[in-house]
Amino acid sequence: MLGNFSYHNPTKLYFGDESLNFLKDELKNFGPVVLLNYGSGSVKRNGIYDQVVAILNEAGKTVIENPGVMSNPTLEKLNEGVKIARDNNVDLILALGGGSVCDYSKAVAASVFCDGDYWDKFWLKQEQPAADQRLLPVACVLTMAGTGSEMNAGTVITDAEHNFKVGHVFDDRLMPKFSILNPKFTMTVPDNQMKAGIYDIMNHIMEQYFSDFDDNTSDYLSEGLMRSLITASRIAVKNPQDYEARSNIMWTATWALNTLIGCGKHEDWMVHMIGHSVGAWTHAPHGYCLASVSMAYYKRAMKEGLPKFVRFAKNVWNIGGDGMTDEQIAEAGLAALKDWMLEIGLPLTIGELGATAEMIPGITSTTVVYPAGYLNLKPEDITDILTESL
Ligand code: NZQ
Ligand code: ZN
Repeated sequence: MLGNFSYHNPTKLYFGDESLNFLKDELKNFGPVVLLNYGSGSVKRNGIYDQVVAILNEAGKTVIENPGVMSNPTLEKLNEGVKIARDNNVDLILALGGGSVCDYSKAVAASVFCDGDYWDKFWLKQEQPAADQRLLPVACVLTMAGTGSEMNAGTVITDAEHNFKVGHVFDDRLMPKFSILNPKFTMTVPDNQMKAGIYDIMNHIMEQYFSDFDDNTSDYLSEGLMRSLITASRIAVKNPQDYEARSNIMWTATWALNTLIGCGKHEDWMVHMIGHSVGAWTHAPHGYCLASVSMAYYKRAMKEGLPKFVRFAKNVWNIGGDGMTDEQIAEAGLAALKDWMLEIGLPLTIGELGATAEMIPGITSTTVVYPAGYLNLKPEDITDILTESL
């Protein structure tokens, strides 16, 4: 392990089918006004909203509701949330939903007391809040497994007017104070979103794993997480009500992106950069956007990162490799990945998401490109990857 790093994750987790019981006690640590952010209504249909509101009422909180946080939350909706928080002297922001609601809640928390243009400062210029800026505390009751937003400081926001989707990872002051993870809450997630979440988790691990060549404990942890996810996903797509599989997926999602397996790694994230841009143009679920460009991307990365792709084939996909060249082993690993993606039911092309050849110049121009992982892509390479993925 050759890198230098610090590791600090302050988010407290409550996990399991009884985890919501801990909300009441946690609420004692915060002031009386709670901004409750949630999405387009799934939490009302499945009854989670009623359970959470009952606990908030019992705890004597004044609840300010902010519904309608859309999947892939927009800058316009962020502005609305900031105004609500400013007008109501909010003490705690409670996110009730998936990654979009959690991300959004952190974005509001960072922006409420920001002097000036928070969009420009945090997302366009990628600055951190000033050391003395007040930040509202955020907590999450998670209803969907995938992003890891429940235990990280990431916030992805879309400027819908300009088809520009951009993430900002805040410093650890913005990590949720606590998150409640009840795998039962994920049982009503629609089939396509469950699958998108599964690939999002897989790709988070791959983005961190496919960088560097040193012997690093983080990579062994990544391999274990990928193996667990592959096993659990195969069970969950056949029987979405399998609690054991859904709980393993939920727990793997959290560890896939809570900064642990990035320790000592340079990390990649170019599949996410291209995927975000595909998402801004097609509005497809985040994990589907990643899946649709992955094969073309990793075929390229394999050439530069061959030893790691050989290791991926052997340690994640159990490719024996006897009598095979390194290239053949690595290719067999990618073929196994592709077979698994097909088995899960993931899209393998951007065409399946509604992207067209005419959109490719626009998708390319809104993709943030930087040297990462094993590749140093130029915009024309992004165009080639998108064309191959069509
Ligand atoms: O709108 P609601 O009613 O909440 O419905 C949601 C939404 O339609 C629904 N859903 C969630 N839980 C449900 C449920 N439906 C029924 N029962 C439940 N229990 O599922 C749909 C998708 O939800 P969403 O929150 O959008 O999905 P996800 O968790 O995948 O979050 C995606 C967002 O997270 C960002 C993505 O870019 C995207 O904007 N990401 C955040 C990251 C981070 N913080 O580190 C990293 C990721 O790479 C990702 O970029
Ligand atoms: Zn992701």
